[in-house]
Amino acid sequence: MQKRRIVVTSALPYANGDIHIGHLVEYLQTDFWVRFQKMRGHECVYVCADDTHGTPIMIRARKDGITPEQLIEASYARHTKDFADFEIAFDNYHTTHSPENRDFCATIFKRLEKNNAIFYKDVPQLYCPHDKMFLPDRFVRGTCPSCGAADQYGDSCEKCGATYAPADMKDARCAVCGKATPEVRNSEHFFFNLELFRNYLPAWLEKHVAPDVANKLLEWFAPDVKLLPWDISRDAPYFGFEIPDHPGKFFYVWLDAPVGYMASLLNWCLKNDKKFDRWWNNPDAELYHFIGKDIVRFHCLFWPAMLHASDFKGPDQVFVHGFLTVNGEKMSKSRGTFINARTYLEHLDPAYLRYYYACKINNTTDDVDLNLDDFALRVNSDLVGKITNLASRGAQMLHKSLDGRLGEMDAKGRALLQEFLARAETIAGHYEARRFSQVPVEVCHLADAANEYFDAAQPWKTVKTDPETTRKTLTSILNLFRILAIYLQPVLPRYAEKVAKLFGDEPYTWDSLQTTLENRAIAPYEYLAVRVLPEQVVAMVEKSRVAPPADKQAIEKPAPPLKTEIDIAAFGDIDLRVARVEKAEPVEGSDKLIRLAIDLGPLGKRTIFSGIRASYPDPSALDGSLIVIVANLKPRKMRFGLSEGMVLSAGFDHDKLRVIAPVGGGNPGDPVS
Ligand code: 2FM
Ligand code: ZN
Repeated sequence: MQKRRIVVTSALPYANGDIHIGHLVEYLQTDFWVRFQKMRGHECVYVCADDTHGTPIMIRARKDGITPEQLIEASYARHTKDFADFEIAFDNYHTTHSPENRDFCATIFKRLEKNNAIFYKDVPQLYCPHDKMFLPDRFVRGTCPSCGAADQYGDSCEKCGATYAPADMKDARCAVCGKATPEVRNSEHFFFNLELFRNYLPAWLEKHVAPDVANKLLEWFAPDVKLLPWDISRDAPYFGFEIPDHPGKFFYVWLDAPVGYMASLLNWCLKNDKKFDRWWNNPDAELYHFIGKDIVRFHCLFWPAMLHASDFKGPDQVFVHGFLTVNGEKMSKSRGTFINARTYLEHLDPAYLRYYYACKINNTTDDVDLNLDDFALRVNSDLVGKITNLASRGAQMLHKSLDGRLGEMDAKGRALLQEFLARAETIAGHYEARRFSQVPVEVCHLADAANEYFDAAQPWKTVKTDPETTRKTLTSILNLFRILAIYLQPVLPRYAEKVAKLFGDEPYTWDSLQTTLENRAIAPYEYLAVRVLPEQVVAMVEKSRVAPPADKQAIEKPAPPLKTEIDIAAFGDIDLRVARVEKAEPVEGSDKLIRLAIDLGPLGKRTIFSGIRASYPDPSALDGSLIVIVANLKPRKMRFGLSEGMVLSAGFDHDKLRVIAPVGGGNPGDPVS
């Protein structure tokens, strides 16, 4: 196979925010793709950086009482830690506030100027006399000229959706100081003349982006409408790079951000003794950008035109993906579904999200839905139940009863192995074409066949009567499992690393599929993946939940007065216990109650009716959860049956209750104190 040279980028995250699960849709799919290319033996370099410039970062630092440099340094540390913990393996993670980026911006700008792609024009803009700065539209607030809603942004109204110029607002005020009335001032701006590329761009789009993305962008190219020039300069004070020979003028952040891809690659070249031109400007090297659909204009119009006009090679393909929704809706702080990478990591194994995203992501711009129930279900039934179980049952039995030594595979095992290997190129094709969701489909299909073989051979029975036949069964099972782990390595690198350790293998490449393991010892089994517990997901959502701002909250009810004081002995009479919900279901004929079948471990099983239906419209969300109940409450006869205890829940409104969960875990029947 011809060795390819490939440079891959993901969009640069802003340095004024944390990485969240929406960002991860992109970084994870890029990581899957890059890891796959590396496994195939290609030279592939994955570069990225923090996007550090612009007004929001400058203002944010000011508000925090630190310098922008301090702000971006802290952000760099947090981002790189989040990425590393999610097993995202950049070859270089740089910053746009770097000497390499400054130099590239200067070079590109000079070449654009020389090629007459830049012109200068005065533009009127709002200026805050108090802060002595021009205000981006987002930093102006006022009353919407269309519907009259107060406190709207300077460019559009969140209430009625109207768009307008900030100068059209009657009572515009500066959002930086919160008080001064901005005034209109003229200032000279630098523009990139996009119209010059009217012929170049449509041909470029046809070759370098998916047809649906290209078609959307081509709508801008109506014959009688000029392409709008792009304003690439900002006035001081601005956190960014000053434009060479133009004191007081700075490159707009969106100019230096994509140049940051080049800068990060150059920085990698410098550290690794490579020549930039052999990686970027080489027609034999490939360059791919992974981006979200919100930033196609920058990457598929301005960027290729800018590179073309400054004699740099453009991307071979821009791969555009959709947004993340959680439970079918936009990520939401008040629903607790705006989940930061760090919050996720505090509750769950990154491998789960990597696996789940692989199940959902493909090469289209469709949005990707993270359904939290489906997430737990798929991880538990497929990754743990179907795939990992092969290894845990196989390896543990081999150690327990057969000295941890593989023998030879039996005929059925060999035949299955051939079937597994016959899927290799199909699976490789899915990775290459970014049809990631097809990989788990293929792998689960194979895992089903392996489990059928295992169940038919019944090694747990034969191990007592015919150990050597059992050894063959387990040898087959473990070889089959190993193939699945290799197929999944781009998605589950740490998992695959542990599998390699179990079998005493080197890190896997695609060629590792060619070897079989027979007549050798395996290492002790270390856990690879355990089940997701629903309460871990609930706790993560709770931790992410942010109360909506006061004006959006329901009018607060006064807290009910405290009841008469009790002494500790009275409290001690209440017997609180951990219970596991076996089944939670609506009660027919009641819109308030749900019926919970619960397991109290050694204390037996019970039924409890609880009035929390408004908070749990789909009670099955509680199935499998650990909860806390009052276990010694006198059973109460209700219209629908006997209720044997009380479920503890808390919340600020009758429809926002959450059952209380023993977050650290526990066993049914455990006392709670
Ligand atoms: O939209 C964003 O989050 C930008 N920070 C992406 C920049 S990508 C590239 F152009 F640098
Ligand atoms: Zn101001």
